Amino acid sequence: MFESCYRIYKSCFPDYPVSYENFCEMLNIKKSKIFCETDEDEIVGFAIAGSCNIAVVAVEKAYRGKGIGKNLVGLCEEYIRNNGHKSVKLGVGDASLFQGVPTDNDGDSEVYKFFEKCGYKHSHLTYNMDIDTYCFEYVGLDIPKPENITYRLAGDSDKEELLKAVEQVEPDWVELYKSCDDDVLLAICDGEIAGFEMVNEYGGNFTKGENVKHGCIGCVGTVPKFRKRGIGLDMTANAVQRLRALGCDKVQLLYLVLDKWYGKLGFYITSTQWMGEKKL
Ligand SMILES: CC(C)(COP(=O)(O)OP(=O)(O)OC[C@H]1O[C@@H](n2cnc3c(N)ncnc32)[C@H](O)[C@@H]1OP(=O)(O)O)[C@@H](O)C(=O)NCCC(=O)NCCS
Repeated sequence: MFESCYRIYKSCFPDYPVSYENFCEMLNIKKSKIFCETDEDEIVGFAIAGSCNIAVVAVEKAYRGKGIGKNLVGLCEEYIRNNGHKSVKLGVGDASLFQGVPTDNDGDSEVYKFFEKCGYKHSHLTYNMDIDTYCFEYVGLDIPKPENITYRLAGDSDKEELLKAVEQVEPDWVELYKSCDDDVLLAICDGEIAGFEMVNEYGGNFTKGENVKHGCIGCVGTVPKFRKRGIGLDMTANAVQRLRALGCDKVQLLYLVLDKWYGKLGFYITSTQWMGEKKL
């Protein structure tokens, strides 16, 4: 069944290619719930729900406009309600491919209207951004240079202090940092952790083959008392420089809201997500 869902996914999301392995892993198939619509035993549409989110809904082109999508969303909502939750998020959750709804897939920039029809309310947009490392010049950047900051990768002995720093910045990230296999780059000021970010030379979702090595930077945070000194941008620039040295052609940032801020380094928007939620 999952192979059929993947086949439909590939035809419905040409702008968001993932390998079958990543598809299964990101959708957490052992824990998530799959609903399918069939025609003569062939799956023609499916939706996948996490415990309180709808990760993806897709209907084959020939079967659209017949209420199948709406029905699949309704089944996910019922499942989530029965799990004891009072609201449903689109995208992000314990099973997720996207952070919200991709707004620019297959030339359809208005798919969010489908979710509006299903009763979802828009909260904000998030962006994925790329930078091409070949035209990146760390020293030439017009950004403030923070004083008294050094950068190094975190080791096991940093774990406790790192998690405390993460907690101050974004409590939702603590679990991510606990289980993170990526390198973590630290900004250090007078022996203290002032900033942190995840850095992966083999990162980047939805990176269209192309023989391009795509690195990824995620969960960038500056501890509150160290803010407004330029640490966040400079730390990100430092990570781009490291990833370039590791042979990355591009570096991707996922699901961010500060597009103008990262734009100062030369990152440009590659895709946009519509963040929506519905009260049950
Ligand atoms: C989005 C999708 C699942 C909708 O499936 P569907 O079976 O055609 O949807 P329904 O027939 O149930 O449509 C329900 C309502 O939403 C509207 N709608 C559906 N798709 C829409 C779109 N792309 N843009 C605007 N409105 C849309 C329909 O007109 C219908 O309105 P009505 O209730 O007034 O008649 C389908 O277009 C699809 O698979 N798209 C590609 C994958 C995708 O982008 N999924 C969303 C992100 S996870």
